[in-house]
Amino acid sequence: MAQKLFLLPGDGIGTEIMKEVEKVIAWLNSQGETDFSFDSGLVGGCAYDAHGEAISEEDMQKALAADAVIFGAVGGPKWDKVPYEKRPEAGLLRLRKDLKLFANLRPAICYPALADASSLKRELIEGLDILIVRELTGGVYFGEPKTITDLGNGQKRAIDTQVYETYEIDRIVRVAMDLARTRKNKVHSADKKNVMKSGVLWDEVAQAVAKDYPDVEFHHILADNAAMQLVRNPKQFDVMVTDNLFGDILSDAAAMLTGSLGMLPSASLGAPDAVTGKRKALYEPVHGSAPDIAGTGVANPIAMLASFAMALRYSFNLVALADRLEAAISSVLADGLRTGDIAQDNRKTVGTEEMGAAILKKLAA
Ligand code: NAD
Ligand code: IPM
Ligand code: MN
Repeated sequence: MAQKLFLLPGDGIGTEIMKEVEKVIAWLNSQGETDFSFDSGLVGGCAYDAHGEAISEEDMQKALAADAVIFGAVGGPKWDKVPYEKRPEAGLLRLRKDLKLFANLRPAICYPALADASSLKRELIEGLDILIVRELTGGVYFGEPKTITDLGNGQKRAIDTQVYETYEIDRIVRVAMDLARTRKNKVHSADKKNVMKSGVLWDEVAQAVAKDYPDVEFHHILADNAAMQLVRNPKQFDVMVTDNLFGDILSDAAAMLTGSLGMLPSASLGAPDAVTGKRKALYEPVHGSAPDIAGTGVANPIAMLASFAMALRYSFNLVALADRLEAAISSVLADGLRTGDIAQDNRKTVGTEEMGAAILKKLAA
């Protein structure tokens, strides 16, 4: 039976980079390598324009029914004034929450050919391979109350609430530990236990989980120090596990180590179903809709294509195919092909379509 993909290109460069994924899917199906059926929907600003909501109920149902959701990017200045609950980003947050995608894996890998595209010195990032495991359905993103109150004296008060319960920390730290076992067996857990009660609990639970993994080297690190260490000596890290907000910020920093935000993929996974063992999953680049370059055809499609490779690996167990797609990306970079965001010198750059086509050609070779 065909496996169901649900594509949500979103806004801005989301629509441009998703076209390159569609071409890869069509080619894989045409070769009999996969049997994907795919349907597309609207999310973000485009959904707000069409339905007055950042995602319609119909598209939410399709996302819930899919074997994997492939997501582009949402947002843009056009929707700066829409009500807070209906802003483009609310569509993505609802998908994460309703699909219960608590585990967000954000690998930052430095492709050999890009060692000079990083803002850090080559020796610091050559061979870099770190994985940020970000908690995705809790913390200050979703905690209540979340309000702005008019105090009536010309002042307002804004409140966001950081909340974590034991089970939420326990399950994400276990994900990080299990993944570390498939890598270099090292986990750093980042929090602010010196300031935040949620940090105190985070560390208490993380330390307890670590006891179940005596073979994994476990370190606590304060989140601000983690940011500093990421740019000082990133190769000291293997897996870093952290909360929703710190994970958001630290993964943007990690992205830049690899040369560009346009390079970083991610997988957002739910818990395995008790009966079928299947996980709900959504795959999305770490970057946003890049309003500054949207519509010009220059966006780097690699983060999006590498996110699709993660879908092949994690949702469909097509590990060899995922490896081949990642190798095709690496090989195109080794040939010197560059989109504008990763061009180190004055070399000629290619646009989204040309980069996508070159990767597909390598895959097909
Ligand atoms: P952004 O990631 O969209 O862009 C930051 C910078 O990186 C820009 O200069 C952009 O041109 C560049 N960039 C990003 N992706 C690129 C790519 N694939 N190729 C080449 N260059 C790329 O972040 P922002 O400007 O802070 O946010 C813009 C909008 O995107 C906001 O509305 C924000 O909320 C939204 N956003 C959405 C997501 C998502 O949908 N997952 C993620 C982050 C930001
Ligand atoms: C990300 C984005 C999102 C986040 C926004 C668009 C809601 O920045 O996926 O990194 O903050 O999680
Ligand atoms: Mn982010």
